[in-house]
Amino acid sequence: MSYFEDAQKKYEQLKHKENVLILSVESSCDETSIALVENGRRVLSNIVSSQIDIHKLYGGVVPEIASRNHIKNITGVLDEALLKANKTLDDIDAVAVTYGAGLIGALLVGVNFAKTLAYALKVPLIAVSHVHGHIGANYISHAELTPPFLCLMVSGGHTAIVEVKDYCDFNLLGTTVDDSVGECFDKVARVLGLSYPGGPNIDRLAKEGKNTVKFNYKTPLKDTLNFSFSGLKTAVVNYVHNCEQKGADFSKADVACSFQELATDELVSKTMTACKNFPKLVVAGGVGANSRLREKLEIACKNNGVKLYLPDLKYCTDNAAMIGAIAYYYMKAGIGLADLSLTASATVSI
Ligand code: KG4
Ligand code: ZN
Repeated sequence: MSYFEDAQKKYEQLKHKENVLILSVESSCDETSIALVENGRRVLSNIVSSQIDIHKLYGGVVPEIASRNHIKNITGVLDEALLKANKTLDDIDAVAVTYGAGLIGALLVGVNFAKTLAYALKVPLIAVSHVHGHIGANYISHAELTPPFLCLMVSGGHTAIVEVKDYCDFNLLGTTVDDSVGECFDKVARVLGLSYPGGPNIDRLAKEGKNTVKFNYKTPLKDTLNFSFSGLKTAVVNYVHNCEQKGADFSKADVACSFQELATDELVSKTMTACKNFPKLVVAGGVGANSRLREKLEIACKNNGVKLYLPDLKYCTDNAAMIGAIAYYYMKAGIGLADLSLTASATVSI
């Protein structure tokens, strides 16, 4: 029997196994991460080796450097993940990996590593969408959470409002027509001279500022659930450049605060419009760690009788546990099983 025929049989059998242990691999950007997750909910280990200090020197992620560091780190991350979970490779029922979206070179490291592991262990290989993984993070943080629900997806790569009809049934209600909100945070941080990654630094600096700066900006795309963030990004960049050219004094903290208010208002107002028919709202992705966004959503959901689910901060940004969580539901739904021809994809659709 070939590797894949055997994997197909085992994948089907896993649906009926009481405890399913998935080893998951995530390397789509600048975090090398491996986790062991049981039944999509219980994290036995989640090791994240961050390259932030390296990429900080260049003001953003350098794809080639990210790939090289994934190669350097990945076996050590595997050893640590197994040790922390107190498991051996023989305990693993399936290997899951992010195949997209992300940086091709970075993704390929994880994909090839996972393929090798799955083949050597003779276990199924599950190809997981990174975007679905971000939603899956919530199944770890909230043991009682089940679909259907509405999801606000806010990461460096995506900004979207998604109807999650079932664990593996997604319906895109709105998306950005240009930049993602994460890109916008990162660009504004850069123009303010804040270090990479920009989002958390804007969040921190905004706490010291006031919402007093008026940018030359009008909220676009009023009657739709689609977003546009490039206009806001340009307005903030122009404001800072104008001040610098004129030698005018300005407060970076006030700019950060005023920008963050506009960006989060936009996210919250569209999400609450979309939420009218949904009693449950789930947040996913790195920008979901933003303290002001979390605060505003808490208030808006309370006022509108919507139950809000925010992922734990450590599961907002990239990690392998979220990939292992959603991979379990892929398995239950009978989707995602990959053969050894699996390759990486720079983009994925929701
Ligand atoms: O989900 P993520 O880790 O990676 C992608 O899948 O893209 O998201 C990364 C994005 C970056 O743009 C980063 O600046 C932003 O999430 N981010 C934040 C915060 N923490 C991370 N943005 C605003 N406030 C934060 N606290
Ligand atoms: Zn991500």
